[in-house]
Amino acid sequence: MSPSTGLRKGVVVNIESTLRSVKAAIEDAEMMSGREVSSCWTGIGGSHIEGINSRGVVAVTEKNREISPDDKERVIEVAQKVSIPMDRQVLEVIPQSYIVDNQKGIRNPLNMIGVRLEAEVFIITCSVTSGQNLLNCVNRAGYRVNNLIPKSLAAGRSVLTDEEKDLGVALIDLGGGTTEVMAYSAGSPYSIITIPVGGAQVTSDISIIKSIALDTAERIKIESGCCWEGLLEEDEEIIVPGVGGRSPLPIPRSQLLAIIRPRMEEIFKMVKEKLDKLSQTRPLGGGIVLTGGGALLSGAAELASHVFKLPVRIGNPLSVGGLAEECRTPVYATAVGLVLMGKDKEDNNLKQDGEKGLREKNPSPFGRLKGWISKEFF
Ligand SMILES: Nc1ncnc2c1ncn2[C@@H]1O[C@H](COP(=O)(O)OP(=O)(O)OP(=O)(O)O)[C@@H](O)[C@H]1O
Ligand SMILES: [Mg+2]
Repeated sequence: MSPSTGLRKGVVVNIESTLRSVKAAIEDAEMMSGREVSSCWTGIGGSHIEGINSRGVVAVTEKNREISPDDKERVIEVAQKVSIPMDRQVLEVIPQSYIVDNQKGIRNPLNMIGVRLEAEVFIITCSVTSGQNLLNCVNRAGYRVNNLIPKSLAAGRSVLTDEEKDLGVALIDLGGGTTEVMAYSAGSPYSIITIPVGGAQVTSDISIIKSIALDTAERIKIESGCCWEGLLEEDEEIIVPGVGGRSPLPIPRSQLLAIIRPRMEEIFKMVKEKLDKLSQTRPLGGGIVLTGGGALLSGAAELASHVFKLPVRIGNPLSVGGLAEECRTPVYATAVGLVLMGKDKEDNNLKQDGEKGLREKNPSPFGRLKGWISKEFF
């Protein structure tokens, strides 16, 4: 972990200082782990990230009408061919469910019999320029980028359970510069929301109202901040250090709460307004999960539960073998999720290579014909 000064609201605004942060964080990680890093899975966020739901349909090609990995690949490709503008780059295409002939809600259509295969997918895109700037920072810091991965998707990978995703859940990642929300229904994501306000704004409020430096405000927030009255004990006082010769000032903790709570409530209300528009047809039976550093603010879950009128829990990265205890905090949800997603993708590539190898070694007569046709005519 390394402080970042080159990002604003999740977007790179200063290449030099961002690449220095990337370098410092990776060098620390190399030192701690004793491993050398050459490439990385990089999280991307910010208001330029968008998600759309799309669908595609293909005819099943195998003679025996059994759906093959090829059919699955093709239908996802077709679903992806919605008009994505030139200035946007596709980050992820996540299959939500398949329809075989008229049977809906199929999670994996492989080897099923049918003539028509339809796929519903969630496509996450980013602005080409924002993606490119982030890529440049990591490259110029000396590392290859395997993939840009939407940060909130990574956080979801590490903190959400399958049951929550099935019931419908909204993951709220309270970061420094942004608050990012990923909503799930029937096991898959279907909406991504970015609110350009995060924990840094709370710190800035404290700094402005109490006329203290940002780092002091940050420390006070972390040590004594709270956003839910019910958690305050009576007469608690905290000491705000004096600036420029002024003497330190004791203030009641409730005064700090009066600064923090409105901002946190505003963030949750902005999220709720957007979620309400989406969730009418898709219930959030799994409630709300808060993650990111802001989830550590005392009272965050209580306030969120009050605003959303839903059960709320704090999302720590779920157990991963060998993960040090100190990484099991919401602060590392995205980082742990990126590692897991990187591993998923590598496993998946190996599996696909294996399947392809098998098919190439042992192609069906129809497959051979198809290969010949595409070689001869396309
Ligand atoms: N114990 C704590 N109590 C309150 N707030 C905290 C605590 N720990 C961290 N934070 C806040 O969490 C925010 C940082 O969260 P996080 O580390 O998840 O952000 P990030 O992933 O670096 O940023 P972003 O997601 O916006 O790119 C900061 O505003 C910080 O003040
Ligand atoms: Mg984050």
